[in-house]
Amino acid sequence: MLDIAFAKSALPKSGALALLIAEDANSPTREVLAAADAATGGAVSRALAVADFSGKQGQSAIVLAPGAGLTRVVAIGLGKAADLTSAGLENAGGSAAAQLGRDAVAALSAAGLSGAQAAAAALGATLRRYRFDLYRTKEKADDKPKLAKLTVLTDELPKAKAAWVAGKALADGVYLARDLVSEPPNVLNPVEMAERCKKLTALGVKVEVLGPREMTKLGFGSLMGVAQGSAAEPRMVVMKWDGAPATKGGKGKAKPLAFIGKGVTFDTGGISIKPAAGMEDMKFDMGGAAAVIGLMAALAGRKAKVDVVGLVGLVENMPSGTAQRPGDVVKSYSGQTIEVINTDAEGRLVLADVLWYCQQKFDPRFMVDLATLTGAMIVALGHDYAGFFANDDTLADQIAAAGRASGELAWRMPLDASFDKQIKSDIADMKNVGGRPGGAITAAAFIQRFVNGKTWAHLDIAGTAWAYSDQATVPKGATGYGVRLLDRMVAENFER
Ligand code: BES
Ligand code: MN
Ligand code: ZN
Repeated sequence: MLDIAFAKSALPKSGALALLIAEDANSPTREVLAAADAATGGAVSRALAVADFSGKQGQSAIVLAPGAGLTRVVAIGLGKAADLTSAGLENAGGSAAAQLGRDAVAALSAAGLSGAQAAAAALGATLRRYRFDLYRTKEKADDKPKLAKLTVLTDELPKAKAAWVAGKALADGVYLARDLVSEPPNVLNPVEMAERCKKLTALGVKVEVLGPREMTKLGFGSLMGVAQGSAAEPRMVVMKWDGAPATKGGKGKAKPLAFIGKGVTFDTGGISIKPAAGMEDMKFDMGGAAAVIGLMAALAGRKAKVDVVGLVGLVENMPSGTAQRPGDVVKSYSGQTIEVINTDAEGRLVLADVLWYCQQKFDPRFMVDLATLTGAMIVALGHDYAGFFANDDTLADQIAAAGRASGELAWRMPLDASFDKQIKSDIADMKNVGGRPGGAITAAAFIQRFVNGKTWAHLDIAGTAWAYSDQATVPKGATGYGVRLLDRMVAENFER
């Protein structure tokens, strides 16, 4: 991971320097610019003027070898200081990291900004510098990204360092989620993924793993039906973080928050097999589970003062002589029966049993599930917004607000009772698909039958789990979507 250090604002004597500059003419962020100009005989400002750089949000300009020992100065526009959000600062830090060039050690000036804002820029830089290198054995040194250490210059050194404790924990959580999603499906099967969950015990998370015998005994017919075609055994992992301080007078603690993830380590579609083109993408079908695991790591890493349970259902959806067939009827842990019309609608079958188990076992304050659930969600909202569904307006507002604040956007979708009609079955309590119209919504309607009336939201992250091109804080590849949004949602509503 990018090594982040903080230091008092001062013009560095050598190397590459990124400047975060607000649009406002008299902004204190421009004082470093003045210092750089004083040292270089005005070279930096002259170059920025030629580049039409004015500090507008999203603008950037690179000045090579301006003098005073500096190899390059990268100016990043922040827009108007009054409109600046932490997501905007993360984006600015990410753009800076992408443009800092060939120096392994560089500086990022957050002068004129608060310590918390400096830490947000550090987070963005760290997230943009992510790379999954495990299986590259022949890459030339020249082709590798150089930036290894970034010193963030700030006027509020102690505050920046304090904010970075949480920022670093969040970056660790996002990195973990991205690593899990990036791993190839021959390596990361359900058994291996459960092993990775166990590593969270080092952070103080309690981890319990259930295998096929325990889940069969419990009556997880819906999840086990998906798993039965694979040579790899399924797992359900329960992770607990007890961070809430005990209440005075021994009145006991508030109910935990619960996060549930779809962890299909590879989705071939099963007997309803998918077309070959692009099937390799379906290694990311465990992106919901990865986000829950990354979230637990982030919360534990920053010692969040809240009780949280994270549950992931881990299976591989394969066609084989033991695979379930279209037409099969399975009995879920809730007791409700399901006619499996399409074995490719497997995520909802996995979530059904895990959600029922979660509400039975933990009686949580709410449940939020994340799943790369439907192609229909991508058709509806594309890749910049996840779609979400909720049976509670307060929870819905908390998710949408945390999405805006974190930059991981989420748009609420309708979930009226009318959609539920589409999953009526002629032979069982329901069928697992509702046809093409509103495909993401009927999937949510299916899941809702397994929340037992509890406060609940479902995020369909099919379009946001993977980036098909570079974004400010996300290099092409696994995004870790959901970790930042939910960490923020917990911090803003349940720790104060
Ligand atoms: N994992 C897929 C959804 C998906 C598709 C995610 C493309 C990301 C990109 C899911 O298990 C699935 O196959 N859903 C089907 C449901 C259909 C059979 C009702 C789909 O969306 O086609
Ligand atoms: Mn599928
Ligand atoms: Zn799937």
